[in-house]
This record gives sequence, structure tokens and C-alpha cells, in this order.
Amino acid sequence: MGGGIKEFDIATTEKRLVVQELENMSDPETGRILTGSWVWDSSVLLSDWMATSQRQNDEFDLQGKTVLEFGAGMGIPGMTAALLGASHVVLTDVRSLIPGLQNNVDINSLGDRVKVGELVWGSEDSWSSLIRDIPELAHRIDLVLMSDVFYDITNMPEIGRTLRWIVKGDLKTRVWCATEIRQWTSQCLYELMKEGFNVIELTNRRLDSPPNLISSCSSLMDGDCDENQPSFAVFQIVPRLNDV
Ligand SMILES: C[S@@+](CC[C@H](N)C(=O)[O-])C[C@H]1O[C@@H](n2cnc3c(N)ncnc32)[C@H](O)[C@@H]1O
Repeated sequence: MGGGIKEFDIATTEKRLVVQELENMSDPETGRILTGSWVWDSSVLLSDWMATSQRQNDEFDLQGKTVLEFGAGMGIPGMTAALLGASHVVLTDVRSLIPGLQNNVDINSLGDRVKVGELVWGSEDSWSSLIRDIPELAHRIDLVLMSDVFYDITNMPEIGRTLRWIVKGDLKTRVWCATEIRQWTSQCLYELMKEGFNVIELTNRRLDSPPNLISSCSSLMDGDCDENQPSFAVFQIVPRLNDV
């Protein structure tokens, strides 16, 4: 793997996650950099938000739940869900990132609760293979997690289609996503609404202090965030019954 190690305290708990970022990872087919090779701030904020809201609000208790994360990258939100009590967690991303995800699961000794698998947005074949390989997913998925996957408008129809397969019109399936608010974020959300989902903002936060990061290798620690003060939001995505 060869990348740096980062450690995160899970808010309101005594628990800690360790992840190993990947070095010089590019897609062997397209040559493009694999953006899931390192930790994005949204993933830490989603983890923080989940841990804090579990503490404050027992309306959705993660105990015993089945959770799917897509575009997981390093897998921080999904592994956080496992540490908060979810019994089956599946971290998914493109194939080249699966060994890195598995490595992170192993480092945290979460293999009894967390599995990894390929899920390419919009690919029915990859969805069918995933549910064949991980039968827990054939039953209800209680929670879907996404962080920093709303950055390219052209991806949104595929993300919408994949979400439809996952939630199967079941209003009990929660979908939470965290995103940095960029110029094109509202357009991405609008595209998702066109796919049959409503979008509810649960919280937003301006990043004027580093998230709960312990090691010193993040750009956040270099003071970049003081200049830009990026904003983040957590959304709940709700299927519109007649459209999904
Ligand atoms: C900006 S990164 C965010 C990674 C991680 N969720 C985080 O917040 O640290 C976007 C992620 O989406 C994944 N991704 C991009 N296109 C994808 C596709 N077509 N199918 C599945 N995953 C995809 C990337 O591999 C990457 O892990």
C-alpha cells in the first residue's frame, strides 16, 4: 500500500479508527488518479455527525443495522457505523480500491462485521454480483452512506439509479451523505431530485477548525482551511414514492 497512516477518534466514544492512505494510485484502465486513495474531509465530518447524532438522538439506532457505503474510498463512515454498533457493513468502490479498503478493515480488526466489494455506479452487473457475493444485502439495507461523491453532474444519473436498486422504494432505508459545498453541489443535488429523490439538509458546518484528526499529515493541519473555510453539509436523501 505504502501510504501514510491516519488516526481518527470517533466523536463521543473512546473508539479510534486507523486508515492507511494509498500512494500514487491511478486507474490502470483510464490512467486517472483514484480519488478514493486518500481521506476527504467530508468522510470525517460524516463520521463525527453520525457519532454525535447517535448520542443525542436515538430515533435511528445503528445497533444491529445493515449498512452500505458507496464510493467509500478509505471507508471511514462505514467503519464508524460498525464501531457504533452496525452488525453488517459493506464498503464499496471501484475495483482498484478494494485491496486498500480491505487493508483498512483488517487494520481495525473489523472483519467480523465489515465486508468490502466492488460497486460501480450505474452498473447493474456489479450490483448483481455484489448481492450474490454478500447475501446480507439481499434483505433490507437500513442505511446507505456516501461522502464526497457529489462532485460531477454527469455521475448523478448513475448514482440515482444505483440508489434506486439499493432502497427498492423502501422508506425505512436511510440515506445519509456528507459533501463539501462547492459551486456545482446544488446542481448535483438537483440532478438527484430529477432521479426521484428529495434532499433534506440535516446540518451544515463551516470548517474553521480541523475535524477530529490526530495525525499531522492532513492539509487541514497546514492551515489551508483558515484561508478557504470550506463549508460542508450532511443531507438525507429520501425516495419519492411514485418515482422510485
Ligand atoms: C472524492 S472521493 C471520496 C472518497 C471517500 N468517500 C471520502 O469521502 O473520503 C470519490 C469516491 O467515489 C468513487 N467513485 C467515483 N466514480 C465511481 C463510480 N463510477 N463507481 C463507484 N465509485 C466511484 C471514487 O473511487 C472515490 O472513492
